[in-house]
Amino acid sequence: MASINTCPVITVDGPSGVGKGTLSQYLTCKTQFHLLDSGAIYRALAYGAVKQNLDVQDVPALVALAESLPVEFVATSILFDGEDVTSSVRTEEVAAVASKVAAIPEVRVALLERQQAFAKSPGLVADGRDMGTVVFPDAEVKLFLTASAEIRAERRVKQLKNQGVSANIGQIIQDIKERDERDSNRSTSPLKPADDAVVIDTSDLNIEQVCQRAEQILRDKRLLP
Ligand code: DC
Repeated sequence: MASINTCPVITVDGPSGVGKGTLSQYLTCKTQFHLLDSGAIYRALAYGAVKQNLDVQDVPALVALAESLPVEFVATSILFDGEDVTSSVRTEEVAAVASKVAAIPEVRVALLERQQAFAKSPGLVADGRDMGTVVFPDAEVKLFLTASAEIRAERRVKQLKNQGVSANIGQIIQDIKERDERDSNRSTSPLKPADDAVVIDTSDLNIEQVCQRAEQILRDKRLLP
């Protein structure tokens, strides 16, 4: 479904662990735009589904939950029915369920308008998988980040180590590949760059370099001075 944006929208798409979240936060800070973390919406849905013991194949129940999803974003926290689930939605278990429920076309439709409603003045940075292709096809700037599964797994292990959690890199690579496979091969909104997206391969770049590159693109589009 095409949408006419009422304000400038910058989309940041790509697979998990590629640095979209950090880049999106950086761009939000630079532009003072709003932020949509669409993955957090799918994770909140997965969290709710696990909590309510829903079968990941029970489409009507998942759609009903998606339509009335009690998720709120307050500052940097994610609330589910008033409960702070900021860390709970970040677990690998919730991520795996999120990837499964996100593959259901009816669930994606049920969440579409809710995501589009984030586009408000002065503008929006939208982080996800299909921001540039489906949710905001008219976005001013579309960025698509890539990096190999191995490099993303190494980054994830480092992140977990910093949180004091030990991790098995082989298992993480396998999980990432499985999730990529599901996200890229689903029939609705598969993970792929929009035709007019700028693709940034972050494999050999650090996050500062990725941010600088994106910032220059925004300057070229006059979204930053
Ligand atoms: O970006 P993330 O890891 O928080 O996303 C969690 C899951 O949600 C991931 O498996 C892909 C899915 N997702 C999606 O299908 N579409 C989006 N726009 C964002 C996330």
